[in-house]
Amino acid sequence: MVPWHIHAGPGAGMPCHPWNRAMTKKSLQTALIHTDYTPPAGFGAYPPAIHHASTVLFESVAALRSGQWKDKSAYTYGLHGTPTTFTLEARLAEIEGGTQCLLAPSGLAAISMIDFGLLKSGDGVLLPDNVYNPNRELGRWLSADFGIEARYYDPLIGAGIAELIAPNTRLVWTEAPGSVSMEVPDLRSICAAAHARGALVALDNTWSAGLALRGFDVGVDIVMTALTKYQSGGSDVLMGAVVTREQAVHDRIAMAHMRLGMGVSADDAYLVMRGLPTMKLRFEAHDASARKVAAWLQARPEIARVLHPAFPDCPGHEHWRRDFTGAGGLFSVIFDARYSEEQTDRFVDSLALFGLGYSWGGPNSLVVPYRMGTIRRDWQGKGTLVRFNIGLEETDDLIADIAQALGKL
Ligand SMILES: Cc1ncc(COP(=O)(O)O)c(C=O)c1O
Repeated sequence: MVPWHIHAGPGAGMPCHPWNRAMTKKSLQTALIHTDYTPPAGFGAYPPAIHHASTVLFESVAALRSGQWKDKSAYTYGLHGTPTTFTLEARLAEIEGGTQCLLAPSGLAAISMIDFGLLKSGDGVLLPDNVYNPNRELGRWLSADFGIEARYYDPLIGAGIAELIAPNTRLVWTEAPGSVSMEVPDLRSICAAAHARGALVALDNTWSAGLALRGFDVGVDIVMTALTKYQSGGSDVLMGAVVTREQAVHDRIAMAHMRLGMGVSADDAYLVMRGLPTMKLRFEAHDASARKVAAWLQARPEIARVLHPAFPDCPGHEHWRRDFTGAGGLFSVIFDARYSEEQTDRFVDSLALFGLGYSWGGPNSLVVPYRMGTIRRDWQGKGTLVRFNIGLEETDDLIADIAQALGKL
């Protein structure tokens, strides 16, 4: 018999038990835990409800035994979803143009969930040389300890990737653009080559947030995003999402989601949902400001190269022009080789409005100097790379700050 108080909470169709109903007799200690009160049904508001739950109550033993965690047609345990997380998943799937979505506690967790869902010992995975470094590290770990062969490719390889796809290659990772060195891959050619050989293509679409690039439209099978960035928009949440269109691919990743215990908190899911309505406006503001700052930097003698996908001399710019509709706030510059690392570090330390820290998509501008030579075998002697995340401050203030810091070089 279901105790009717489990229906507590707003919801149409739920039995409503007003205060004047005869209260069940119980001791004080039990009354501290069980209540007879149910608020009236029919409450409506724009913000989705935040459902905190580890235990989820079933209506009957038959419902408990039905084991419907996989198709999300019922609730089974907080880890497998609540109305809060299901709502966020549905919204993200729609934004990316997919049909299924799984949440993970960080962008990196979402990446690992894809690998563990789709790869097994003996399989091969290809990753671009410019991939998000922890994804590269995960590839190394899969190779060293899990019998999975991870190999790395030139992000501008395009159709040439066909030659690297071996009979055991199951997954090709792409990142568009690489979020430090900014090469924009030819996703359409990579997808065509991978599909012709039976491999799936996963895209890290974090830079575009599902706004500037529609991953499924260019042919990828799995779109992963770090919601930590533009979706949350507040630099205060870590979360990742995996969106798919093929049920069979989703099901394999969902098994990894379940087996690895990839739960997210209801409060965090709420914060991400709170960010979604303003995301496009924020993204466009980041984009406009970043292009202005990048153009200003391009004209400076201290800067050898601006790596911004919307700028013609960015490697792979033609793919950005073909496939993207915007750019967001993230780009990099390479300092002229006459400046030592000590000098460029002084530049970074002299910035007042730019925080020195990783990530992007929040209101605050950020900057990170990268030792590219230690990450990329092809980067020797290219000059110091500094990555900018342009936040939502007044653009002219940011430019003035960069100008004064360049003066300290
Ligand atoms: C391109 C890219 N993908 C994935 C991630 C991982 O996101 P998270 O920090 O939520 O793990 C990041 C984080 O910086 C990133 O830059």
